[in-house]
Amino acid sequence: MTRKLIAGNWKMNGSLEANEALLRAVLAGLPAALGADVAVCVPAPYLAQVQALCQGSPVAWGAQDVSAHERGAYTGEVSAAMLCDFGCRYVIVGHSERRQYHGETDEVVAAKAQRALSAGLTPIVCVGETQAQRDAGQTETVVQRQLAAVLQSVGAAAAGMVVAYEPVWAIGTGRTATPEQAQAVHALLRAQLRAALPDDRAVRILYGGSMNASNAAALLAQPDIDGGLVGGASLKADEFLRIVAAAA
Ligand code: G3P
Repeated sequence: MTRKLIAGNWKMNGSLEANEALLRAVLAGLPAALGADVAVCVPAPYLAQVQALCQGSPVAWGAQDVSAHERGAYTGEVSAAMLCDFGCRYVIVGHSERRQYHGETDEVVAAKAQRALSAGLTPIVCVGETQAQRDAGQTETVVQRQLAAVLQSVGAAAAGMVVAYEPVWAIGTGRTATPEQAQAVHALLRAQLRAALPDDRAVRILYGGSMNASNAAALLAQPDIDGGLVGGASLKADEFLRIVAAAA
């Protein structure tokens, strides 16, 4: 059984001083026998700092977006090769905040996942429905459509990615999906991966959306929840460490 993964998504938060304090507290608080994989996905300007702080530790690091292009005249974008220069292992693609604020389509997300995989990065592919879509009974259709676009683009290489189910209505709201709600969607995504891949077992499906130290254990106990993609709670060392402990 693949170990669970707890990945922090710092979003557009941090400073050189705060990052060092947070990471030193997390690194100091990790158990010697770590029972889960741990990563932090940070704003690109801090990659050199995080690489230096986490190098040689059990904490992997990554970015929160990547260009769909290999190189060239794409002002402001960051290529997969540039992320690899900083030792990144992961990169989040298709986060709902990028779909919402930057108009990222399923096709763009698929191209970014492809680019990441081609460069040797592990994309964390985010899918999730809005409250309106859930209320309209469209949850299954939405998440299956979002994942299908990536699977069609990357093919068997999908065995090297991570999927994150992030119900948009739970992100940053404190309204966490119940373990049963999350498990129902995770089981659907697992079935979709199993149908698409010769061997889907290495693909972990993380839950994201107001995961915290109080609810992590119940969520992570679900059979198809393989970890968490943690926003706000990843900015607090003690809370993040308690979530990591719950994943062990
Ligand atoms: O990518 C993880 C993030 O969207 C979840 O945020 O603050 O609800 O844990 P949060």
